[in-house]
Amino acid sequence: MKIQAGPPVRGENFLYRENIIHKAWELIESGNHILIAAPRRAGKTSVMYYLQDNPKDGFDFLFLDTESINNENEFFRRIVNKVLKAGAIKSSQKISAFLKKHIPSIQKIGLEGIEFGVKEDLNYLELLGEILKSISDDKNKIVIMLDEFPQTLENIINDEGEAAGKHFLFSNRELRQDVEVSKNVHFIYTGSIGLENIVSKMNAIKSINDLSRLIVIPLSTVEAKNLIRLLLENVDFDLSESLIDHILQKIEWLIPYYVQLIVQEVKELHREEKVTDVTEKVIDRAFEKMLTQRHHFEHWHTRLRAMLKGDEYNFSKEILNILSENETIHSNEIFNIAVKYKLENIFKDIIGSLVYDGYINNNEDRMVYRYNSPILRMWWRQNVAN
Ligand SMILES: Nc1ncnc2c1ncn2[C@@H]1O[C@H](COP(=O)(O)OP(=O)(O)OP(=O)(O)O)[C@@H](O)[C@H]1O
Ligand SMILES: [Mg+2]
Repeated sequence: MKIQAGPPVRGENFLYRENIIHKAWELIESGNHILIAAPRRAGKTSVMYYLQDNPKDGFDFLFLDTESINNENEFFRRIVNKVLKAGAIKSSQKISAFLKKHIPSIQKIGLEGIEFGVKEDLNYLELLGEILKSISDDKNKIVIMLDEFPQTLENIINDEGEAAGKHFLFSNRELRQDVEVSKNVHFIYTGSIGLENIVSKMNAIKSINDLSRLIVIPLSTVEAKNLIRLLLENVDFDLSESLIDHILQKIEWLIPYYVQLIVQEVKELHREEKVTDVTEKVIDRAFEKMLTQRHHFEHWHTRLRAMLKGDEYNFSKEILNILSENETIHSNEIFNIAVKYKLENIFKDIIGSLVYDGYINNNEDRMVYRYNSPILRMWWRQNVAN
């Protein structure tokens, strides 16, 4: 397995995550539409790639990154173009006939399937509905995976307002709730920002309450050790069991990204400084070095900055600053800070975003929050708080 710290991993670089893949199939096979809920960098896109690359018989997985889309009709147009390339659809005479009859302006029909031009003035939601309904008696099921869906929602809200955002959410719901469509089509939504928080802020939870949650939890200690062992196969140093324990203790919150980052950092130290023996000291230095690389963690902060305006951002920053110094913060103190910024009505959603984003949790005690991992905590202290 090659070290890859950043982009989604695929093929032999993917550490197989039994619980998550098993649960995903359970949900798909019992006919659910899914929301993959997990903090930033937890491995969501990689899980979707795995499903796409390893489908069970009779399933066709389509993957679409919707991050740059900022308009509802464009969103459904892109899905239509994806769907028309799916095996089950490409070969369906019925659908070809349907399209030829109903849509006079197809851009091209080739080996890749049919594609519609950008300027089409069509209602693509309606068209997609018709196409998906017409496969309902075929044997193949289609799973449409939409990555960065919450970003699309935010783009729509920013460009066209909240009402357009709500409309978008309910259009999606209507489509997947259609009896004919949902017989053979499943939707999986995810993204690196929390859909539930945005939707709850808009008072539109009803638009997604039909989605089953698939939670991408951090690795177990056994899985994390396994990941390190596999990554070590491609480097020219080894790590003893106790050094691996030391690494895992320092990471604490075992998302695969952190494990990859640290192994990469040790590899670089080993190469640059010609360290012969990797010791605890070397590992500690690797952690320090990792924290000075701004780009490893910058996206957490950038996201927060983009999502929260003015005092909402100041409020979050103050909470995270306090936590980076004090380790824990009590809900009462959070409330007092919210009052200071006049955010009593929405501070719970903001805290929810910090939880979703993978900054903090209140797992041990509902009233007390702490950072998930000392890594992000130290990074915040060095790069943002001070
Ligand atoms: N199953 C896995 N095996 C090995 N490494 C993984 C795995 N899943 C995730 N990673 C590590 O985490 C990084 C991020 O993975 P991925 O892009 O899938 O996460 P994500 O949750 O989609 O992130 P984002 O929230 O930014 O969209 C990868 O570059 C890799 O280092
Ligand atoms: Mg992703």
